[in-house]
Amino acid sequence: MKFDTPATQNPVDRLKVVGKPLDRIDGPLKATGTAPYAYEQHQAAPNAAYGHVIGAGIAKGRIASMELDAARRAPGVLAIVTAANAGTLGKGNFNTAKLLGGPEIQHYHQAVALVVAETFEQARAAAGLVRIRYQRGRGAFDLAAARDAAVVSEGEQPDIAVGDFAGAFAAAPVQLDATYTTPDQSHAMMEPQASIAAWKGDKLTLWTSNQMIDWSRGDMARTLGIPKENVRLVSPYIGGGFGGKLFVRADAVLAALGARAAGRPVKVALPRPLIANNTTHRPATIQRIRIGAESDGRITAIGHQSWSGDLPGGGIENATQQTRLLYAGANRMIQARLATLDLPEGNAMRAPGETPGLMALEIAMDEMAEKLGMDPVELRILNDTQVAPEKPERPFSQRQLVQCLRTGAERFGWARRNATPGSVRDGRWLVGMGVAAGFRNNLVRKSAARVRLAGDGTVTVETDMTDIGTGSYTIIGQTAAEVMGVPLDKVVVRLGDSDFPISAGSGGQWGANSSTAGVYAACMKLRQAVAQKLGLGAEEAVFADGKVSAGGRSLPLAQAAEAGELVVEDAIEFGDLTKKFQQSTFAAHFVEVGVDIATGESRVRRMLAVCAAGRILNPKQARSQVIGAMTMGIGGALSEELAVDKRLGFFVNHDLAGYEVAVHADVPHQEVIFLDETDDKSSPMKAKGVGELGLCGVSAAIANAIHNATGIRVRDYPITLDKLI
Ligand code: MOS
Repeated sequence: MKFDTPATQNPVDRLKVVGKPLDRIDGPLKATGTAPYAYEQHQAAPNAAYGHVIGAGIAKGRIASMELDAARRAPGVLAIVTAANAGTLGKGNFNTAKLLGGPEIQHYHQAVALVVAETFEQARAAAGLVRIRYQRGRGAFDLAAARDAAVVSEGEQPDIAVGDFAGAFAAAPVQLDATYTTPDQSHAMMEPQASIAAWKGDKLTLWTSNQMIDWSRGDMARTLGIPKENVRLVSPYIGGGFGGKLFVRADAVLAALGARAAGRPVKVALPRPLIANNTTHRPATIQRIRIGAESDGRITAIGHQSWSGDLPGGGIENATQQTRLLYAGANRMIQARLATLDLPEGNAMRAPGETPGLMALEIAMDEMAEKLGMDPVELRILNDTQVAPEKPERPFSQRQLVQCLRTGAERFGWARRNATPGSVRDGRWLVGMGVAAGFRNNLVRKSAARVRLAGDGTVTVETDMTDIGTGSYTIIGQTAAEVMGVPLDKVVVRLGDSDFPISAGSGGQWGANSSTAGVYAACMKLRQAVAQKLGLGAEEAVFADGKVSAGGRSLPLAQAAEAGELVVEDAIEFGDLTKKFQQSTFAAHFVEVGVDIATGESRVRRMLAVCAAGRILNPKQARSQVIGAMTMGIGGALSEELAVDKRLGFFVNHDLAGYEVAVHADVPHQEVIFLDETDDKSSPMKAKGVGELGLCGVSAAIANAIHNATGIRVRDYPITLDKLI
């Protein structure tokens, strides 16, 4: 099904099942521990041996020698895989550094060996006997030092210039010129990257924890040099991803190589202390923002420059992208520069680009409001735009940022905010309120599904879509139930298997809208097949309550499959509506903080997010996404930072003891409001993404609240107490 004209009324609009705050259908499996994660697929892959990954002890250089004999002789050892004995390996499209390094080392903790043994303990003990000597090379590990040598990266957006930025900025009566920094951040998802590999002849099955089944199936085939058809990926349950599982990592490739070497299935989980340096992370940024405005607050010039680093062949952290679209202003300048660094591979982490970009831009807007003597909510409203500022002929498909801000201000009690910083006290706490806008583009991707109608009336949906803790099972089930006119308990959803049709996958907050639209397409096709089978006019047939009715006749849906299962497959394909209309999602974040007058400790006291993100397919699941993201934003504002050892080139705090994410005790009352919105340009579902939007802007709202509480403007995240006293 091609989606290239705005959606008209369709069966989803009935909203009998879609749009309801239903519990997750996989909830009981998760809560009882019976949903198997990749490392727990004992039944699917019995008799698996254990692989233990050895990570490089230097950031850049070469392996001079590797002593394997003692490890080979250790109890239980079945095989040791290294680059020297693994044969020629290719490189996946989505990997920057090699997943098995050696003799060249590209980054710290790059995998250099896998020791396979009968038990986990034997593999780990034997790994400790491997002796590696390195020749250390010189590397670049300091973004600030590499900044001046940074370049426009190949294939990325060129500089953007609209009007005369320099002239307009110089002439503006009110100006801000400030530089902000955001640190490297780790995904820190609950389930580590983990895989079990099993070979049958030349065919590989990989149970793995992965967001994008088809990308990763292709990358496994490219890496191993085998046909894609010979690789099957299975990933039905995933304990969080955030972008860290968009691509296959060392666990997957080494499990496959280990299983081939050992002649039996092999399971590999990346130990937590290896994850920060071995896998991908959100790269640090330096951002210079200049804003010029008339004295009434109207922005006349806006400039955003961002610097980030990555390994050779890597890409930028696109921190300027929201600045192209969020506020009006005739004169604009955008530049992104990439420095070559030899730190671990940078890549996508929840709302890549917009998250660090808004951490900077939305402090800058707060600073402008202060300079102008304006309310920060009103400044944002004044500079709203309903068209893409660089392309005024391109309207937003829906843009309710102003409504988000107004609703939030009303519901949060923004009128009670004292605009004079440092003037509200509650015992030992200085109290402040902050606001920030949230913005994330709404991406869409082709997505296919297969649906089966069985003789008992059961509708089974199969698609390689993943559920990374987001509720995919539930919203896909709701979609099929709605379109086929059956109760949710008559729908079976099967996900995360490369044997199923290729979906959009879970990334870029495109998953919910795109994958349900694919299921919609397949179900609409099934309706036609059913009507035809029953001899009813497909056009006027009504599907409801397990029956199909047309022309005065009403028959059970199941009757269409009496003589055998009906199976159809279709995909949603997106035409150029994304070009004609700028499709984005919007939020307003309001935060109240307390800052301890003596210690500088910041505590978030209240949070509210108001989101405008198209039709909300399941408010309970969407709310969970947003409060999870708000929680991540607390970490981003107050504690999360991968500390770089700039001499040796690695992240020092590479476990959950040193890398501090927000925990329950850090999280206050959180409220989420979804504005009533349907976007007929986004898909037949009229939905958009919320999973990443929820994070966009949160950390800046906290930073702004801290400023309101204390009068101290911190421009370098995280806002730890040493920066406040
Ligand atoms: Mo997302 S950072 O595309 O999982």
